[in-house]
Amino acid sequence: MNFSKDLSVVILAAGKSKRMKSEIPKVLHQILGQPILFYMLSLVSKLNPKNIFTVVGYEKELVSEYIKNNFPQTKTVTQENQLGTAHAVCMIKRRKGEDFGKNILILPGDSPLVNIETLRKLVENKINSGSAVCVITSIVPDPEGYGRIIKDRNENIIRIVEETDASPEERKICEVNSSIYCFDTKSLFENIEKINTKNTQKEYYLTDIIEMLIKNGKKVNCFKTPDYLEVMGINDRLQLSEVENIMQRKINESLMKNGVTIRDSGSCYIESSVVIDKDVIIEPSCFIKGKTRIGKNSTVGPFCQVMDTDIGEGTRINASVILGSVIGDNNNIGPYSYIRPGTVTGSNVKIGAFCEIKKSEIARGSKVPHLSYIGDTEIGSGVNIGASSVTVNYDGFKKSKTIIGDDVFIGSDTMLIAPVKIGKGAIIAAGSVIYQDVPSNSLAIERGEQKNIKDGAVRYRNRKKLKNTKE
Ligand code: UD1
Ligand code: CA
Repeated sequence: MNFSKDLSVVILAAGKSKRMKSEIPKVLHQILGQPILFYMLSLVSKLNPKNIFTVVGYEKELVSEYIKNNFPQTKTVTQENQLGTAHAVCMIKRRKGEDFGKNILILPGDSPLVNIETLRKLVENKINSGSAVCVITSIVPDPEGYGRIIKDRNENIIRIVEETDASPEERKICEVNSSIYCFDTKSLFENIEKINTKNTQKEYYLTDIIEMLIKNGKKVNCFKTPDYLEVMGINDRLQLSEVENIMQRKINESLMKNGVTIRDSGSCYIESSVVIDKDVIIEPSCFIKGKTRIGKNSTVGPFCQVMDTDIGEGTRINASVILGSVIGDNNNIGPYSYIRPGTVTGSNVKIGAFCEIKKSEIARGSKVPHLSYIGDTEIGSGVNIGASSVTVNYDGFKKSKTIIGDDVFIGSDTMLIAPVKIGKGAIIAAGSVIYQDVPSNSLAIERGEQKNIKDGAVRYRNRKKLKNTKE
């Protein structure tokens, strides 16, 4: 059924959300790297409706800014004072010159687990049944905090009662209101302003419209979804964490179904934007975020944080942090290394333990095995960088580049004072401080002369002993 051209969507996102105990508007709190509002707007965009409106109020500049930058086709509508969900809908009605179409789908801003298919079925159900409204409900194990669905003997909805207004008997009802409704535009707008604030919270409840429409002889309908998680709203930090865990589980499950091994799924946080190939193994406690892609047969973890990084095939990354980089095939990285943005490695590169690499290129087969800092550097292929070597890229004023040719051997504890170039095939003796370019195939050595003093050690010890007895 194609209902898109007759459908407007409204997302209610003006509330402050006292229960989050936060100064950040609730819809901007993040789940797996994206604000809650991202999930709501991405979802309804898939319905391709003629309009999407988001009602904003609390910190409306922040919320509007996010919408403008990320969902520019969405219109924001201000509700200055948050007097209730029905009052928020009034703000939509009062917009001049809008063509809303025949149907209006209303969603709260805080229920990101609802399924696109469920939304489609809701709209279809509303249209096919000729109802003035159809509301998504579900039977939940713990209905606390939700509006309860009151039905007659024939299972027809007769009203919705909010928790704070419900009798002890009504509170026992486990079928709850999702706050997701598909309305007949005309019936909604004819009645919305008649809702009053006669309830314990003194708010204009959108839920009151159900009873009102029935009194006006309209047909009202429920669409009960069997997956109760879909109706879960985020009102506090506990629910935020629950929803994040559910989403995380779904992402991990889908990866596992597609051939990725995730050893301790509960400890791995993988954002939905991440792409992982077949036969990749994710070891416990990994955080994989942003636009990351991991090629087949690679192993990441345990204890890795990878963001916006492209990892090739057959690469092994252990207990390391990699940000904004491109890592080649068959690399071996870690444990305990930090690869910073702008790093690009070729195939068969090794970056071992306790290394920091920043904005550097390391070509095929090169090795930085231990305790080194490489920054603003180009390293050719087949290079070996000895332990504890440093490219000294900052003189306190500006950053400079180090260029190391193919097949260079850098001895341990070398300082390369940039800008400096080491020609192909050169060897740098350990402990050197290199401040001039080294031509190809040269051996560079920069050290003080070594003296071996005969019996010097014996004399030294004796002197120390004498001093100690005097004291
Ligand atoms: C609401 C429903 C409840 C339902 C639950 C499902 C009402 C009265 N209650 O309760 O029946 O079970 O959702 O999650 O509708 N908002 C505004 N302007 C306002 C008030 C709220 O835009 O003046 C927005 C909020 O930002 C939020 C949404 O509407 O995104 C729902 O408000 P919230 O306070 O979370 O309602 P609940 O108490 O969860
Ligand atoms: Ca809510």
